Amino acid sequence: MPSEEFVDLRSDTVTLPTEEMLEAIRYAKLGDDVFREDPTVKALEELAAERMGKEAALLVASGTQANLVSLMTNAKRGELVILESESHIYWYEVGGVAAIAGLLPWTVKSQFGALDPADVEAAIRPKNIHFPEPALICVENTHNRHGGTIVRPEQLEAVGRVAKAHGLRLYMDGARVFNAAVALGMDVKEFTRHVDSLMFCLSKGLSCPVGSLVVGTAEFIEKARKNRKILGGGMRQAGVIAAPGIVALEKMVGRLADDHLNAKSLAEGLAKISGVKVDLQRVQTNMVLFNISNLGLTDDQFILKLKENGLLALMHGTNVVRMVTHYGIERKHIEVAIAAVQAVADDANRNS
Ligand SMILES: Cc1ncc(COP(=O)(O)O)c(C=O)c1O
Repeated sequence: MPSEEFVDLRSDTVTLPTEEMLEAIRYAKLGDDVFREDPTVKALEELAAERMGKEAALLVASGTQANLVSLMTNAKRGELVILESESHIYWYEVGGVAAIAGLLPWTVKSQFGALDPADVEAAIRPKNIHFPEPALICVENTHNRHGGTIVRPEQLEAVGRVAKAHGLRLYMDGARVFNAAVALGMDVKEFTRHVDSLMFCLSKGLSCPVGSLVVGTAEFIEKARKNRKILGGGMRQAGVIAAPGIVALEKMVGRLADDHLNAKSLAEGLAKISGVKVDLQRVQTNMVLFNISNLGLTDDQFILKLKENGLLALMHGTNVVRMVTHYGIERKHIEVAIAAVQAVADDANRNS
């Protein structure tokens, strides 16, 4: 675990590389990847494409860069992109969709993160001189702001049908798509086959220090490579990033099931605490959201008191706390986390 002092449930991005990853970095064969001479990067990109059932893949620096490169590659400036209203691209990527990709984001609400095809259909307005051209639909899987919820293959398929009917592309921000696949006990290709292109992250539940992959057709990835370059994302001996990525794809996917079990235990434990409300329906993978509005504490007070009890968490919105399980978090840490929330809640309930 990153910190000896705290149980850190802020995010699965806090994970540190495994010993095997560090070894792989040490011995990676390297070259200049802008000249396409890094054999380790090539090996990772081939492996990623194969795992996702697509023709090609491209290593990029982060999930945000993966999304931006993909938006730029999937649509032209001035075109319209349909996004789920709580999506990471819309909320947390500094508006790059507009500021850099030059697209008009058009948001569609959903209850659990999966777009309703009828709502998508309604968002695609007819050809008219007043309207921007719609080019792209984005889905997110698992859905971060909805609490790590899964967009099921049949839901992707249904949105894919709408996209095809209107000649739009379908892209998946699959930062945590392996969590979705492992949770449903399915091959990840069951998800990816319904989208034209996607990205997934190495540096979240898969525990790598850096990196994400954009995946799609060979033609799409050629264009994406140039868009990565314009963003300053052409990396040289990037095999040091790719090497742990190969370890992650080979060794770290199956264990995500442990994170999901731990999240479930955490959610069930928290649900028993007076003043804490957990929406158990949303606990589908490695995230737990819970509401603390009945405790009479401000968000900052709650987070600080958790910290005093040895637990790190993040606020997800007003009165809503997020905890994320990941590599390094074991059963004993879940017990520490529940006890910490219990202590803070007991104290708040006594004083209210
Ligand atoms: C769904 C989703 N997409 C994209 C990102 C961006 O990834 P990064 O932090 O590597 O830029 C995140 C980060 O948490 C995410 O949750």
